[in-house]
Amino acid sequence: MKNAELSTILSAYDDTVPLELASTLPAAWYTDPRILELERERIFGRGWQVAGRSGQVEKPGQYFTVEIAGEPLVIVRGSDGVLRGFFNVCRHHAAAVATSAEGNTQLFRCPYHGWTYGLDGSLKGTPDFTGVCNFDRRSNGLVPVRVAVWEQFVFVSLSQAGSSLKSYLGDLPTRIEPLNLSALRFHSRREYTLACNWKVYVDNYLDGGYHVPYLHKGLNSVLDYAHYTIENGERYCLQSSPIASAQDEFGATRTGDRAYYYWLFPNFMINIYEGVMDTNLVLPLGIDRTRVIFDFYFNSSASVSSEESIAVSDVVQQEDVAVCEAVQRGLSSRAYGAGRLSVRREAGEHLFHRLLAQGIRD
Ligand code: FES
Ligand SMILES: [Fe+2]
Repeated sequence: MKNAELSTILSAYDDTVPLELASTLPAAWYTDPRILELERERIFGRGWQVAGRSGQVEKPGQYFTVEIAGEPLVIVRGSDGVLRGFFNVCRHHAAAVATSAEGNTQLFRCPYHGWTYGLDGSLKGTPDFTGVCNFDRRSNGLVPVRVAVWEQFVFVSLSQAGSSLKSYLGDLPTRIEPLNLSALRFHSRREYTLACNWKVYVDNYLDGGYHVPYLHKGLNSVLDYAHYTIENGERYCLQSSPIASAQDEFGATRTGDRAYYYWLFPNFMINIYEGVMDTNLVLPLGIDRTRVIFDFYFNSSASVSSEESIAVSDVVQQEDVAVCEAVQRGLSSRAYGAGRLSVRREAGEHLFHRLLAQGIRD
């Protein structure tokens, strides 16, 4: 399907087909830059996207900058305590008004010509601007985006229309509440860059443990593969496995009764073991380039060593990186068009593909 019309590529996936008959998204969806453009506009440019952690914007004046769907944003806690988000684009000549990754400030001063904005986005100062006619300061504040917080995660929505975060999440908060995530404290961040499409990484996550016995020998020692469960919500999937005890570094850091792997459409994962959580944010950098941001959290009263736990996660991640990059090469081959899905294992992947196809055609 290389060089085919975009409409041909889009119509090659049928999201009404049940799992027993379904195929994966066509290979061209992972290799054609026009698909990435559509995803930027219709998937990442709409709905709710994870932007950061609430701990980054706890106190008045605290802010962080982030890019979502190619848009530069700034998220800031106002002096009135309200959390707000704006396009990080000066209304004068479009420079970024906030230039650090994070910080604390009383106002934003654009570094280019010194215009200043309050933390509520209002335009305050415009040096050397007397004599300019028909310029309404009130309508030249920073352009807002919607911001909402669930658990320790800050979400933004680039579109003013559309559902609230609450309705976007559905019953996910009710499901996660008993796991008491607020007892976990942010520890550190790690970033990986992969030579694959972002959906390859999400697919790999959503195969219901299918690849664990083959690819992750270490992790496999602590998961009860036969009793792995997969449950789809409206926009999320929960994959869960009972934990078996093992006498290695995996056994020492992956304890408790169960492992919970939550994925929220399109690109956010929350992995929970006893006293340990990591989140994965999967960001497209290009059609075949992806950044995955791991944030590690620990319960301070847990016995698990954070360094050892992060090292174990890194082993698993390296194994996933290698296979995802191999898949991307395979997807570009003339030998491959699409593949079938395991009914036992790959229901989460099927949900992902259907949501993506519905969103992209919308
Ligand atoms: S671009 Fe910001 S003050 Fe000119
Ligand atoms: Fe994996």
